[in-house]
Amino acid sequence: MGLFGRKKSSVGLDIGSGFVKLIEVDHSGDQPEVTRVAIRPLMADAIVEGEVMDPGLVADTIRGLLEDSGIDGRAVVTAIGGHDVIVKKISMDRMTEEDAREVIRWEAEQHVPFDIQSVELDFQILDPQGTGSEMSVLLVAAKRDLVESKLSLLRDSELEARVIDVDSFALHNALERNHPEAMKGIVALVNVGHEMTNVNILEEGVPILTRDIAFGTRRLREDLQREQGLAAEEADAVLAGRQSIDGLDRYVDGAADEVSVGVERAAAFLMAQQAGEGLGRVFLSGGGALVNGFPEALAERMGVEITVVNPFERVPMSVDAPFEVDVLETAPMLLLPLGLALRSP
Ligand SMILES: Nc1ncnc2c1ncn2[C@@H]1O[C@H](COP(=O)(O)OP(=O)(O)OP(=O)(O)O)[C@@H](O)[C@H]1O
Ligand SMILES: [Mg+2]
Repeated sequence: MGLFGRKKSSVGLDIGSGFVKLIEVDHSGDQPEVTRVAIRPLMADAIVEGEVMDPGLVADTIRGLLEDSGIDGRAVVTAIGGHDVIVKKISMDRMTEEDAREVIRWEAEQHVPFDIQSVELDFQILDPQGTGSEMSVLLVAAKRDLVESKLSLLRDSELEARVIDVDSFALHNALERNHPEAMKGIVALVNVGHEMTNVNILEEGVPILTRDIAFGTRRLREDLQREQGLAAEEADAVLAGRQSIDGLDRYVDGAADEVSVGVERAAAFLMAQQAGEGLGRVFLSGGGALVNGFPEALAERMGVEITVVNPFERVPMSVDAPFEVDVLETAPMLLLPLGLALRSP
């Protein structure tokens, strides 16, 4: 590549338990533009409850995906999430960022339920221009094992980590870019994946709470297999609406119930604090948003407006990108990797 017109691209890699996804975003123009998208299903049980059971298989899938995609860079932005990552808004004495870096481990000790010696910490001062004696800080603590196993998986895939992000931050970033209207009032971003549902509650665009619910579309598929005697592929076809069975509603309503209880529980403490102002709106992403009838069932159950997130609403795709046709069809699954790729180099 020449000196002129040099591309400044970021590659986001989302290693989900159902699908591995890769998105490349070009940052050299006035606004970011998607140049590549690649998705591949992961073999069942290669990742279970966030734990990589078969690193060799996952690394093979990632390498295959890279080859398919034609992406030549080796540095990727990826993320960690789940129960071993804690994101918390804390309040501490006002000081410079440099000073805060010195004392953050000590501060974190009071807020993090893990052995403080075994965690990696990061933080961001949320009100750097503030004048009060206290400042508000977003603290991130991740178990070191989790970070190390992610790094080792990348090494096995012949990749390197440019940034290790946090799932909920990447989702938030991508939501903000595509749906600026979500940064008003109290809203929930609900990402229903294959095994996990990530709930982010935002107040005026500030993440005030993030929670994982141990529910994903995998459960729906397994229930259909067990109770309706369907093969895995048939269950997938039913969930995608390509095949129909009597009584799918019951399963979809059950899923909506489970997710709504999780979201309501997460939001409950907040609602108690702020009498009057309830959850205004729910933004839905992840494979769950594609399940036939699920967004409607969730809206009905929660009694709020549900918006299925389109990560390409305001991040255009490059006209000459070699896309598979189904990119738009799977769009809600691509919010997280898009958020990762939005981090400019
Ligand atoms: N077209 C579709 N219609 C219905 N469901 C779909 C469709 N495509 C994918 N899914 C479901 O969505 C799941 C994948 O969603 P997603 O990519 O958000 O999960 P993941 O990121 O791999 O999982 P997790 O984040 O929980 O580890 C699939 O396992 C499948 O059950
Ligand atoms: Mg996911």
